[in-house]
Amino acid sequence: MDNIARMKTRTFVLILTSCLTSLTIASLLPFEEIQLQQQDLSSLSPEEASLVSSPELSSITNSKVGDCKVFPGDADWPSENSWDVLNRTVGGALIKTVPLAASCYEGAYYDKTQCDFITQNWQDSSIHVSHPSSVLSPLYQGNTCLPPSLLNATSCTLGGYPTYVLNSTTVSQIQAGVNFARNTGIRLVIKNTGHDFSGKSGGAGALSIWTHNLNAIEYIPVYEDDALGYNGPTFRGGSGVLARDLYEAADAQGMIVVGGEGQDVGVLGGYVLGGGHSPLSSIYGLASDQVLSMSIVLANGSFVTTSSTSHPELFWALRGGGGSTFGVVTSVTVRAYPTLPTTTARFSFTAQTIEKFMTGVKAYWDLFIKLADAGTYSYFFIIPGAIPTFIMLGFVAPNQTTTQVQSLLQPWFSILTSQNITFLQPPNITTYTSTAQALLSTFPTETLQPDGLIGSRLFPRSALTPSSPLANATWEAWSDSINKGVVIGFNFRAPNIHNLTTSVLPAWRDSVFHCIQGSAPWVPGREKEVREEFDGRMERWKAVLGDEVTGSYMGESSPEEVGWQESFWGSNYGRLVEVKKDVDPGDVFWALEAVGSEGWSVKTGAVIPDGDGRLCRI
Ligand SMILES: Cc1cc2nc3c(=O)[nH]c(=O)nc-3n(C[C@H](O)[C@H](O)[C@H](O)COP(=O)(O)OP(=O)(O)OC[C@H]3O[C@@H](n4cnc5c(N)ncnc54)[C@H](O)[C@@H]3O)c2cc1C
Ligand SMILES: *[C@@H]1O[C@H](CO)[C@@H](O)[C@H](O)[C@H]1NC(C)=O
Ligand SMILES: *[C@@H]1O[C@H](CO)[C@@H](O)[C@H](O)[C@H]1NC(C)=O
Ligand SMILES: *[C@@H]1O[C@H](CO)[C@@H](O)[C@H](O)[C@H]1NC(C)=O
Ligand SMILES: *[C@@H]1O[C@H](CO)[C@@H](O)[C@H](O)[C@H]1NC(C)=O
Ligand SMILES: *[C@@H]1O[C@H](CO)[C@@H](O)[C@H](O)[C@H]1NC(C)=O
Ligand SMILES: *[C@@H]1O[C@H](CO)[C@@H](O)[C@H](O)[C@H]1NC(C)=O
Ligand SMILES: *[C@@H]1O[C@H](CO)[C@@H](O)[C@H](O)[C@H]1NC(C)=O
Ligand SMILES: *[C@@H]1O[C@H](CO)[C@@H](O)[C@H](O)[C@H]1NC(C)=O
Ligand SMILES: *[C@@H]1O[C@H](CO)[C@@H](O)[C@H](O)[C@H]1NC(C)=O
Repeated sequence: MDNIARMKTRTFVLILTSCLTSLTIASLLPFEEIQLQQQDLSSLSPEEASLVSSPELSSITNSKVGDCKVFPGDADWPSENSWDVLNRTVGGALIKTVPLAASCYEGAYYDKTQCDFITQNWQDSSIHVSHPSSVLSPLYQGNTCLPPSLLNATSCTLGGYPTYVLNSTTVSQIQAGVNFARNTGIRLVIKNTGHDFSGKSGGAGALSIWTHNLNAIEYIPVYEDDALGYNGPTFRGGSGVLARDLYEAADAQGMIVVGGEGQDVGVLGGYVLGGGHSPLSSIYGLASDQVLSMSIVLANGSFVTTSSTSHPELFWALRGGGGSTFGVVTSVTVRAYPTLPTTTARFSFTAQTIEKFMTGVKAYWDLFIKLADAGTYSYFFIIPGAIPTFIMLGFVAPNQTTTQVQSLLQPWFSILTSQNITFLQPPNITTYTSTAQALLSTFPTETLQPDGLIGSRLFPRSALTPSSPLANATWEAWSDSINKGVVIGFNFRAPNIHNLTTSVLPAWRDSVFHCIQGSAPWVPGREKEVREEFDGRMERWKAVLGDEVTGSYMGESSPEEVGWQESFWGSNYGRLVEVKKDVDPGDVFWALEAVGSEGWSVKTGAVIPDGDGRLCRI
C-alpha cells in the first residue's frame, strides 16, 4: 500500500478551535470529558461495583497486591461474570485476545484467505499496529503464533500476548480497566502501536489497555504557558495518534511538529514519554521538550491533567521517564512550528573492498558533528554482506536548499569518489516546500524487528571530534561492529533549546550520534554463541566511552541492558523512582526495565525476557 492509501484506511477526527483566541490546560478533548461516574455503577450490585470502582467513587473497592499478579487458571482469576461486569461497564469494548496469525491454525479462527494475507504482509507494520494485541517484536512475545512459513511454526498459543484487551475510546473505559486490574490483582499492560523493541506493549495473563483509537487531534492556534515561557500554536492529540496523522494535521495548518521518522510510531504515546528523536531534533530538540501538558489516568483510577502548574512533579517525570510506569496517558499537547522548506537525500553504496568501504564510512563519521550542528538529521543502515552495503534511508535538512545539502555532503562524496565507489542508488536530493511532505515522502514505512538481539548507545560529541585520541578509539570500537550484524545509525543532536528541566537522559544533550546494532540471526541451537558475540560488541561500545556522560536511548534499546537505570536515565533515575512510588505505590503498572520495575520479574522459561509467564515479586 502506498502512503496515501494507508492514510485512508484510518480516519482521525480533526477538531479546529481556531475560534478561540487562547487555550490553557483546563480544556480536554471530547473523549476525555467522558469519565467514570457514580451513576455508571448504579446498575451493579455492591460486589460487582467493587470490581470496577476507584477510591474516588467508593470506599468499598478492593485492592489486591500479592506476591504474583493473579494469572489465568489461578483460583483468584476473575470469573466470567467478573469479566462481564467489566465489559458492561465499558459498553462492550472488551476483546478476548485472538492472535493475528490465528487464522493460519486449525480451530474456530481458521481462514485461509486471511492467513494468506497475514503471511504475505507479516513484515508490514500496519497490520500489527491496527490489531488489538500484535506487536512488532514477536521474539519478545515468545514467537508463539507466527505464520507457519516462518521459523517452521506449527502451533498458535497466546504466549506473551495479553488475555483481554480493552479497546478504549473514552477516559471512563480506561478508568474502569485500571480499576479492574488493581482491584482483582491481575497484570495490566498498555498497547498503543506495539513498536516497543522489548515486548513491553504486551504481557501474559494481562488486561491490556489499547490506546490506538484515542486518535482525535485538535489545533490550538494560541496556547499560553507563562511558566514555560510559551505563547504560540500547539496541537493536542489523543495518545493513539500516529506520526503520519499528526504530520498531516499540522501540514494542513502550515505547521510541523516534532515526531519520529517512523510514520506508524505512536508519537503521543510511548515515543514522547521516552524522549522521542526526530528529523527536527537538531533544531528543536527531543519530542519530550515540546510537551506543554499531558492528561493521564493514574493507578488509583483518578484522571488528572499535568502541566508546569498542575502536578508539576509528575509532569517532569512524564517528559522522558518512559511509558507503562505512571499511568495511562490519554492526551498530549505539543508545540507546533511554522513549516519549513526541507531538503532530503537518499542513496546507497557498497565498494570493491572492505577497506574502501570503511574509508567511505569513516569520511561520513568524521562529519557527524558538522552535520548535526548544521541542523540536519540522518537515518542509515549498514547491512552485512561479502562487502557491506550502506543505505541512507533519509538525510533530512530542514530549512536548507538542494545546493546547501550538496555542499554539506560534498566532502563525504568526494572521498567516496576517491575510493572508486559508485553508488548503487545515486543520491536523490529533493527539496519539498513543507517539512511534513518531506518526511512523509522520504522515509520508508516500517517493518517488523529482525529476529535477533538489539542494543544501542549514544555517542557524545567528545567521542567524535575528528583526530582526538578518544575519537580514534571510538571509531575502532564502533566500526568493529560493521559486518557482524545490522548497524542502524542516527546522526543528529538534541539540544535543550527551551532550557527545560525534564527527566530525559541527560546524555542526550551532548550526543551527536545514536546507534543501534543487531546480533547475528537468533537461530535455535546457536543462542549462546550469538549472545556472546553480540554482548562483546555492546561492551566494546560502552567501554570505549569510559567516563564520558553517555547512555542508551530507552525507546530503542536492549531488553537486557546491564545497568539500565543508569543507561536510560542517568542522574534522573532516583527522582523518577520517587514519583513512581508516589503515584503507583502498589505497582499496578509494570514493564520490563521501566522506572521502579526492579521488584518484579516475569517467570519465563525462555532464554530471553519474552513476557510469556507469570509476573511475580523477586
Ligand atoms: C520501525 C520503528 C521506527 C521507530 N522510529 C523512531 C523514531 O523515529 N524516533 C524515536 O524516537 N523512536 C522511534 N522508534 C522507537 C519508538 O519510539 C518506541 O518503540 C516507542 O516506545 C513507541 O511507542 P508506541 O506508543 O508507538 O508503541 P507501543 O509499543 O505501543 O508502546 C511503547 C511503550 O509505551 C507504553 N505506552 C504506550 N502508550 C502509552 C500511554 N498512552 N500511556 C502510558 N504508556 C504508554 C507501552 O506500554 C510500552 O511500554 C521506532 C521504533 C520502530 C520499531
Ligand atoms: C463484550 O461485549 C460485547 C457486546 O456485548 C461482545 O460483543 C463482546 O464479545 C464482549 N467481550 C467479551 C470478552 O466477552
Ligand atoms: C525448517 O525446516 C526445514 C526442513 O526441515 C529445515 O531445513 C530448516 O532449517 C528449518 N528452519 C528453521 C528456522 O528451523
Ligand atoms: C474498537 O472500537 C472502535 C470504536 O468503537 C471500533 O470502530 C473498532 O472496530 C473496534 N476495534 C476492534 C478490533 O474491536
Ligand atoms: C530558516 O532560514 C532563514 C534564512 O536562511 C532564517 O532566517 C530562519 O531563521 C531559519 N529558520 C529556522 C527555523 O531555522
Ligand atoms: C581508483 O581507480 C583508479 C583508476 O582505475 C586507480 O588508479 C586508483 O588507484 C583507484 N583508487 C583506489 C583507492 O582504489
Ligand atoms: C527522487 O525522489 C522523489 C521523491 O520520492 C521521486 O519523486 C523522484 O522520482 C526521485 N528521483 C529519481 C531520479 O529517482
Ligand atoms: C587518529 O587517527 C588518525 C588516522 O588514523 C591519525 O592520523 C592520528 O594521528 C590519530 N590521532 C591520535 C591523537 O591518535
Ligand atoms: C537558554 O539558556 C541559554 C544560556 O543560559 C540562553 O543563552 C538562551 O537564550 C536561553 N534560551 C531560552 C529559550 O530561554
Ligand atoms: C490518586 O493518586 C494521586 C497521585 O498519587 C493522588 O494525588 C490522589 O489524591 C489520589 N486520589 C484518591 C481519591 O485517593
